[in-house]
Amino acid sequence: MEYQGIQMLFFFALIFLSLDCTALDTISANQEIKDGESLVSEGGMFEMGFFSPGKSKNRYMGIWYKKISYGTIVWVANRETPITDRSGILKLSRQGNIVVSGSQNRTVWSSNSSVSNNRGVVVQLLDTGNLVVRNKKSLIWQSFNYPGDTFLPGMKIGKDLVTGSQRFLTSWKSPDDPSIGEYSNKIDTNGYPQTFTWRGEVLLARLGPWNGLGFSGFPVEKENRIYNIEFVVNEKEIYHTYELTSSVVQRVILTWDGRTPILQWVERIKDWVVYTESLTDTCDHFSLCGPYGICSVNKHPPCSCMQGFEPRNPEEWEASDWVSGCIRKKRLNCEGGDWFWKIAGVKLPDTRRSYYNTSMTIRECETACKRNCSCTGYTSLDIRNGGSGCLLWLDELMDTREYDGDQDIYIRMDVSELEGLVHSQSDFNEMKRILIVVLLTSLVVSLFLAVAYARRKIKKRPHMKRKENRFMHMEPFDDLSFFSLFEIAKATSNFSVSNKIGEGGFGPVYKGVLEDGREIAVKRLSETSQQGLDEFKNEVSCIAKLQHRNLVKLLGYCIHQDELILIYEYMPNNSLDYFLFDETRSLKLDWPQRFNIIQGMARGILYLHQDSRLQIIHRDIKAGNILLDSDMNPKISDFGLARNFVGYDTIAKTKKVVGTHGYISPEYAVYGRFSIKSDVFSFGVLVLEIISGKKNREFSHEDHNDNLLGHAWRLYNEGRSIELMSGSLKATCVVSEVLRSIHVALLCVQHHAKDRPSMLSVVLMLVSEGELSQPQPPAFFTEVIDGEVQHVSSVDKYMITQPYAR
Ligand SMILES: *[C@@H]1O[C@H](CO)[C@@H](O)[C@H](O)[C@H]1NC(C)=O
Ligand SMILES: *[C@@H]1O[C@H](CO)[C@@H](O)[C@H](O)[C@H]1NC(C)=O
Ligand SMILES: *[C@@H]1O[C@H](CO)[C@@H](O)[C@H](O)[C@H]1NC(C)=O
Ligand SMILES: *[C@@H]1O[C@H](CO)[C@@H](O)[C@H](O)[C@H]1NC(C)=O
Repeated sequence: MEYQGIQMLFFFALIFLSLDCTALDTISANQEIKDGESLVSEGGMFEMGFFSPGKSKNRYMGIWYKKISYGTIVWVANRETPITDRSGILKLSRQGNIVVSGSQNRTVWSSNSSVSNNRGVVVQLLDTGNLVVRNKKSLIWQSFNYPGDTFLPGMKIGKDLVTGSQRFLTSWKSPDDPSIGEYSNKIDTNGYPQTFTWRGEVLLARLGPWNGLGFSGFPVEKENRIYNIEFVVNEKEIYHTYELTSSVVQRVILTWDGRTPILQWVERIKDWVVYTESLTDTCDHFSLCGPYGICSVNKHPPCSCMQGFEPRNPEEWEASDWVSGCIRKKRLNCEGGDWFWKIAGVKLPDTRRSYYNTSMTIRECETACKRNCSCTGYTSLDIRNGGSGCLLWLDELMDTREYDGDQDIYIRMDVSELEGLVHSQSDFNEMKRILIVVLLTSLVVSLFLAVAYARRKIKKRPHMKRKENRFMHMEPFDDLSFFSLFEIAKATSNFSVSNKIGEGGFGPVYKGVLEDGREIAVKRLSETSQQGLDEFKNEVSCIAKLQHRNLVKLLGYCIHQDELILIYEYMPNNSLDYFLFDETRSLKLDWPQRFNIIQGMARGILYLHQDSRLQIIHRDIKAGNILLDSDMNPKISDFGLARNFVGYDTIAKTKKVVGTHGYISPEYAVYGRFSIKSDVFSFGVLVLEIISGKKNREFSHEDHNDNLLGHAWRLYNEGRSIELMSGSLKATCVVSEVLRSIHVALLCVQHHAKDRPSMLSVVLMLVSEGELSQPQPPAFFTEVIDGEVQHVSSVDKYMITQPYAR
């Protein structure tokens, strides 16, 4: 009797100790867990017990992270049947059934996992977050088969073709309510399987079909060291799963508002950040462009018809309603023989009505498609190793988008339609060659003319130094409005101080309102002495012809005696520095906006460098010269005028350097040599500022004396680049985009101009998924003289330190 008592005491002490200190990961039949107690997986990664989500008082049985991110819920048992008090108990029945009950022993949830052979049956929480019921021999039940809103590594999301049961994600109703919400994310097994996101019965978005490398239209990271995705299709089951291949912790969730980000735990900031996210842009709205339409985020409007097709309803199409899509210009004539037109770089169309075969070759695939009159297109099932297998469509092609990847598709066309196209396709290279010859010829001719003109000019006005040919073009001065000084004075309340919105490098800038209500920015040029009127007109006319989404638009000019005034469109959101370097205002700039600004700036500079008719080097790219429109789109200002009004003669190697401290490249600062690569350098600096929210020129760090570039370089080499990111971006950032932007920026600020990429590569690198080259150390300066020097007038103020050694 006494012995038994001691044994009992010992037993209780054991349970007590186990639950509180070296917590258990297993309970066996007839044991229970009360509200307040928990199971902890062997490695301590996960914990299971009762909890209340968010602001709710309800109690739920669930599993959460314990070691990291304490309390992040990954699975809930009684999602629909909360317990309203602390009476919750979890029990394993003798038959191997997990039962959760609340007050009055009312069962609120059951795993329904009873088995006849119940010897040694236990319930165990594994270190993967999986809750299993097993006996000595086999697995009886696992929570991984009943996913909620979280897709953990090792889970299989998909369909069991034998039992017909399907495993898919369902969102929570709200952060406070884990019951099944509006959104679900499942694999659709009609045709070739693909994943859909639904809102109730409405199909919102589609993850493209698996192409061997990844999901068509979803970023495929070739050199991914973090996770491995696997997609399995066989007679028994269809599913996808992933495993983590490093110590990085990630999870995929379907948020209560319908997004499916991949989240990554960042220990330093003790928070989850979005690693990447699919289905977020315009073209991800399911079938935005209708049948045979193609969506492109880089175009405006985003929808266009496939080659050989035209809008079904042109009026609707014009009115930006694209859902009715496109129809063939020429009807198919199956018997007469059809051909296929290749579209490269797409996210494949909806495959719900498709046929696939893994062993057919692409030739067999073409033959099969040709033979069946309802086949509309075909492609390889697996794009690895040059392509294998066959996927063909038996319906209108829906939800196709342009996508920068290796995926092609062949579209069925009538033979007559194809004659023209084949011709143009095969002649494309030839045409390119001819085009280049024509361009080169015209370049030579215009150079010749320019030189001839310049000679004449120089003879006439000997004090004028060399000028680039862009100023020598005499353009008709017609695309600009002329404003009278009276109009401008009226618009700006006679250049009143209250209208002054800034002081540019070339004089004050005023805000004004024209008679017709248009808002304008008025730039009054201060230095005009060396400017002939003709040159000024020429210059302005050239700038007027520069038109790009990411350049501020010049509306007109005004010349009155000594007054030279330029009139631009007004930008309501001021400039980038106004937001970036201000503690509260910077909160308004989230990561998607900043990434959009980075890309827009890159495209604007690219336009100046090579896409515009004139090659223009801006020379003063900085946060203050990036203006923001009402939608926070970036617009570069102050382009083109720089070298005409101030320090024009820097080419002739003067010591006078235009530009802004913190942004100028070493070869420019020291030798006065500038090139498009100096702009690339400034762009790189600006990108680092946008990500860190810190000014390069005022940057300081407690551990070292490097400037922002040096600091970014240190972090990059230590694999800690993400730490450069401003804390305010924590909630909205996409880590892969941030890291890529930092990498590109470091390539831009490399010491040697020749190592820096062109703006074209920068634009491409920012949007592609390809691997980037290793940057060389950046050029960076340590300022010797302190003080508020905005414009650098002499190289003596700088000392170039040795580039940071690895
Ligand atoms: C609940 O079940 C326990 C045994 O599992 C029993 O002792 C208790 O009386 C029951 N309570 C009610 C209210 O039924
Ligand atoms: C167990 O069975 C009940 C009744 O059939 C059902 O309502 C419940 O959803 C099932 N539980 C699970 C986890 O499948
Ligand atoms: C796939 O194609 C091969 C070759 O044409 C054929 O032998 C095979 O039966 C096809 N498989 C299926 C499942 O249709
Ligand atoms: C085309 O293929 C589909 C699917 O395999 C089939 O149902 C249909 O009968 C075929 N049509 C013809 C004309 O062969």
